[in-house]
Amino acid sequence: MNNIIIAPSILSSDFANLESEIKKVEKDGADWIHVDVMDGHFVPNITIGAPVVKSIRKVTSLPLDVHLMIETPEKYIKDFANAGADIITIHYEACANNINELINLIKSFGKKVGISIKPKTPASVLTPYINNIDLILIMTVEPGFGGQKFMPDCAEKITEIKQIAPKQVIIEVDGGINKETAKYCILRGANALVAGSYIFSADNIKEAINSLKDIKV
Ligand code: DX5
Ligand code: ZN
Repeated sequence: MNNIIIAPSILSSDFANLESEIKKVEKDGADWIHVDVMDGHFVPNITIGAPVVKSIRKVTSLPLDVHLMIETPEKYIKDFANAGADIITIHYEACANNINELINLIKSFGKKVGISIKPKTPASVLTPYINNIDLILIMTVEPGFGGQKFMPDCAEKITEIKQIAPKQVIIEVDGGINKETAKYCILRGANALVAGSYIFSADNIKEAINSLKDIKV
């Protein structure tokens, strides 16, 4: 078994049975719960907000990995922090002008900070912040929807980030992850995997999670 963090994205779960869906992946070996927050502006889809995170917080002890695909994240960080998020990831493209302020804001709530980049954003934009954050989230699909096809070019950014990031910074990938694409990312240095459809559409969730944990590194 590798030490890669597995973060199932509840976007592909059955929202009518969210509690049992989360408990199932928790029992089957998930390390984090990945929560995709979309506002219909930054991405062309709307999902869930802080009240749902607050409810989820009550049914799992796993860290909540909250991925904010929203404009003006400064307006909502406090709500997600108070709702019980453990890691709050903002998009570089949504706040390139006030990113340091937002990093400090997230830290002021005692939360871990992530910065995510979309497929067309180069890894180099992260250089000024890399010593001040906990996680980089590399999108390997255009954010907005689950079930899309993995873009290998995006995963090449992992190699670049590995060269500039301090050891403790977690490199997470998100979009189109299955056991083949996960291997591609792990070989380049990713150590956290978000997987939505691969895990939640599997006939056997435990086997799906284990197939990611069993990838040799
Ligand atoms: C996409 C989201 C992802 C999504 C991944 O914008 O950020 O977390 O749920 O879904 P899959 O694993 O199905 O590509
Ligand atoms: Zn995500």
